[in-house]
Order: sequence, then C-alpha cells, then structure tokens
Amino acid sequence: MHRATVISDSPERAREVASRLADFFRADPFSLQELPDAAPSACTLIDIRLRDPSQFFELRRWLKRRPENGHVVFGIDRDSRLQAVQAYAIGATGLLPRPVDGKLLALMLADKVTSAGEAAGDPDEQSAGVLAGMNALQSIFAAALAGEPLNTESLSAASQTVVASIEEQGLADWLDLVRKHHSQTYQHCLIVTAVAVSFGRLLGFSSADKRRLATAGLLHDIGKARIPLDILEKPARLNEEELAVMRQHPLLGLDALKDVPGLQPEMLDMVVHHHEYLDGSGYPHGLQANEISDLVRTMTISDIYGALLERRSYKPPLSSADAYQMLQDMGSKLDKDLVREFRAVTRIHN
Ligand SMILES: [Fe+2]
Ligand SMILES: [Fe+2]
Repeated sequence: MHRATVISDSPERAREVASRLADFFRADPFSLQELPDAAPSACTLIDIRLRDPSQFFELRRWLKRRPENGHVVFGIDRDSRLQAVQAYAIGATGLLPRPVDGKLLALMLADKVTSAGEAAGDPDEQSAGVLAGMNALQSIFAAALAGEPLNTESLSAASQTVVASIEEQGLADWLDLVRKHHSQTYQHCLIVTAVAVSFGRLLGFSSADKRRLATAGLLHDIGKARIPLDILEKPARLNEEELAVMRQHPLLGLDALKDVPGLQPEMLDMVVHHHEYLDGSGYPHGLQANEISDLVRTMTISDIYGALLERRSYKPPLSSADAYQMLQDMGSKLDKDLVREFRAVTRIHN
C-alpha cells in the first residue's frame, strides 16, 4: 500500500481527509500549522482553504523539498479555476475534486487520470520549454503575491529554455500544448511569450533580444498576481466594475518589480505600458506615440494577438486570419509598420 502525506486546515480535518484514502493509502495527517519536519513524501495530498498569504509561502517552500517525480495533489472545489490557479502557484502537480476520493488519487498516481475536470495537460506531453515557462510563471506570481523579490537569474535561465523550445517546436505546437492549461492567466502569459519570441525571430532579432522578449512575455502581466482571483479567472466577460479593477494590473506590476535589483529598466517600461496605444487612448498613463518604446510596441501587439488566440470557457480561439484582421482594425492605435511585419507570424500557425 502507498504512503501519503495529508495536509489540511486542522488536525481534525486532516484526519477526516486521510480516512477517505484508507482503502488505498497509508495516510499520515498533518495540519497546515504543523507541517512535518520531514520532506513531503512521494504522494502529498493538500486539502485546505488558504486565507493567509504567509501560510501560502511556507507551504510552497515545504513542497519544494518534495522528491523528484513526487506528486502534490490539491483537492479543489469542482471546476474552480480560482482554486486551480492558486494550487499551481503553490506547487501542485495535479488537481482532484473535493472531497478527494482515495481511488481517484491512486489512479492519478498510476497516471490513468491526469486531472479533475478539464485536462491540465499530460506532463509527458509538455515540452521542456512549456514546463520552464510554467515554473517561471509560478515563481513570478508567487513572489509578487508574497511581496518577495524576484529571482532574476532563474527567470533569465527559464527565458533561454523557452526561446530554444519555441525555435525547436514552433508556435503551432506550443499553442496546442499551452491551450490545455487550466489557468487562463498562465495560458495567456505562455501564449504571449511564444508570440513575442516568434515575432522577434521573424524580425531577425539577436539571441539576447529574443531572450529579452521571452522575459518580457513572462513578466508582462505580473501585476495580475495582485488582482482578486474571482476577477482574474472569471469564466465569463468582465463587467465595467471588474474591468476597472483589472486595469490596475500594469501599475500593480510596476509596484511588484520596482525594487528588484538587476532588472533591466525596459522590463519595467513594458510591464507598466503594454496597454498604452499610440493615439493616447490606452492606460494607465495615456502615453502618445513617441513616448512608447519599440519593445513596448512589440509586446502590445503580441499581447493583443495572443489574447485572441486563447481558448476560454466562453469563447473559442480565433483563427489566425481573424485575429490578424482585428489587429489591422485597430488602425492608429498600433504601430502600422510592426503590424505589417507581424503578418508573417500569422502564417506560421493557424
Ligand atoms: Fe496586461
Ligand atoms: Fe497580457
């Protein structure tokens, strides 16, 4: 019989969760306040309701000590994208619906079930680049949420892996893999990153510049880490009030990054200004054309196009032709020369 470590909000709840696994696992229950001294076992089940960000951070640190190939399964409310994002940010390798059933958990460990509800993507299918991108995003979002400094070295290492992977597998394959991802936010960032790198490649950018674009893509929406999850991952269009909250993300991103030593200033520019338009109608500063740098213009086009390619529960992805038409329809908001060049990106996938 497998062993499993069970973590829940209280000793009573941990025992109750563990008892449901009894037919399949020898489960050791612990409360969140008393994480075991020992590292996580090969199978850890987390069934908690996180409220305090300091607990989030401690749990994440503890889970990092899991053995290679160790499973960390989070029990979440069925189809809750909000909890799914949170779980992945903390270090989940898989998700199951609450109440977690011992048989399902055993099946998941045997790789017969990959996730609750919508597919999270089979880890074997994911390229090194997608995994590197996902890990980087988890660290970026966790650091922004906890107000901890970003590790720029591991971010640039991840950017390098991401660029190599996009160059090797191409944009179309990358989109297929990434669209399976649970989290709308992570899916968005991974698509925008791939679009920006592909664009840089077609423009003949140097390796260093392509890495900068990858870092920019991964970082650009970091401010969303501080947007309430029920708005961030809402499976429907946002209303006016929610949009106003969402539009705070460029300034929240700037705030999360402004004191990070060693971060290139153009990354801050891109984080805070990727929703500015050349005609002055963008936010948060209403910049005009000559105030918007080339890197920002490139990211803005990649961001809009990437968002149109996403699969969301309330809208299928647009075709490359329709998405490109929408870029053209934006007229003087975007850099016309760059939009013209961008047509080549739309030809390398569909
Ligand atoms: Fe954004
Ligand atoms: Fe974005």
